Amino acid sequence: MNIQLVDLKRRYLSLKPEVDEAISRVIGNTSFIKGEDVSLFENEFSAYCGRKYGIGCANGTVALHLALLALGIGKGAEVITVPNTFIATSESISYVGGKVKFVDIDEKAMLMDLDKLEKAITPKTKAIIPVHLYGQMVDMKHLMEIAEKHSLQIIEDCAQCHGAEQHGRKAPYNDIGTFSMFPAKIMGAFGDAGIIVTDTKEYAEKMKMLTDHGRLDKYNSTFEGYNYRLDTLQAAILRPQLRKLDEWVARRRYLAKLYNEILNGLVETPVELPGNKHSYYMYVIKTKNRDELMKKLKDSGISTGVHYPIPLHLQPAYAHFNLKEGSFPVAEKCAKEILSLPLFPELTDEEAKYVADCVKKSV
Ligand SMILES: Cc1ncc(COP(=O)(O)O)c(C=O)c1O
Repeated sequence: MNIQLVDLKRRYLSLKPEVDEAISRVIGNTSFIKGEDVSLFENEFSAYCGRKYGIGCANGTVALHLALLALGIGKGAEVITVPNTFIATSESISYVGGKVKFVDIDEKAMLMDLDKLEKAITPKTKAIIPVHLYGQMVDMKHLMEIAEKHSLQIIEDCAQCHGAEQHGRKAPYNDIGTFSMFPAKIMGAFGDAGIIVTDTKEYAEKMKMLTDHGRLDKYNSTFEGYNYRLDTLQAAILRPQLRKLDEWVARRRYLAKLYNEILNGLVETPVELPGNKHSYYMYVIKTKNRDELMKKLKDSGISTGVHYPIPLHLQPAYAHFNLKEGSFPVAEKCAKEILSLPLFPELTDEEAKYVADCVKKSV
């Protein structure tokens, strides 16, 4: 068997008629920029999340940048996040002149350790960016209590958690959350795309203008903004995917359960925290002999991944932080042991069993 970590061709084929229709419709009416699919997608996605406003944008990185700008986080502000995320999370803090501050993660769920968060807060701290990694949300009630106590803003990085829930509430839990629709994500564009959702009108209006040169009409810019727009083709391609999202998340959860049943006791399987509905963007196991297992699976035709092999504080880009190995021991330990197994809605039960059996034989 040959099994990819994520198989985008199969996703496309599962939605081919709807997606082909959407693409030819947009090409046919040539409304490539600010076409009606953009606002339709914004409305449909925000409604799905139970939010009043959706602001489509170019990708998940600029979604974070826009959210920080909307909240007025700027020069010198300390913003706390985790080192085990994609660099986009911390880059966005630097874009606004903020200071990136990392806190370590808890070993079980590999999410922000909220006890350590509280200790990391200083008078300069202005915001927290919890990352709902792999499809599972950080304990938001607890995080919001801490944020409130210290008057901090929160932006939830939901790039990996489309369709996830906590205590029955869809991500984001708090007021403002940013999503990526990078092709391999739970919902994936045919290129780059992103969206921010919020209940606050003032933030929504500001972010909408920021995505489009600070203007409300063609030759009238109220302030300098960016060209961070979501393009019509991507919005049109994403709309049929949104209609499938709940079904896809259910299938991801089913496959995760299937993996859990076979792998339990052999490797460390993912945990779902109480109150959470994990959407399993990634199914991440932990094992001491990760590299060896990865190689054995490759030899059996199975692609795997490591998300992420180098914690951000050890990236050359952040050498100037002078954070040596040992600064965030839990994130560093996890980076050496984690392995993402293939998991996507089109993966068959037979394929998932084959993957799990290969892991079983290898460890
Ligand atoms: C946690 C996280 N944040 C932000 C991003 C950035 O999203 P994008 O690649 O769409 O810019 C990604 C994905 O790539 C991500 O996984």
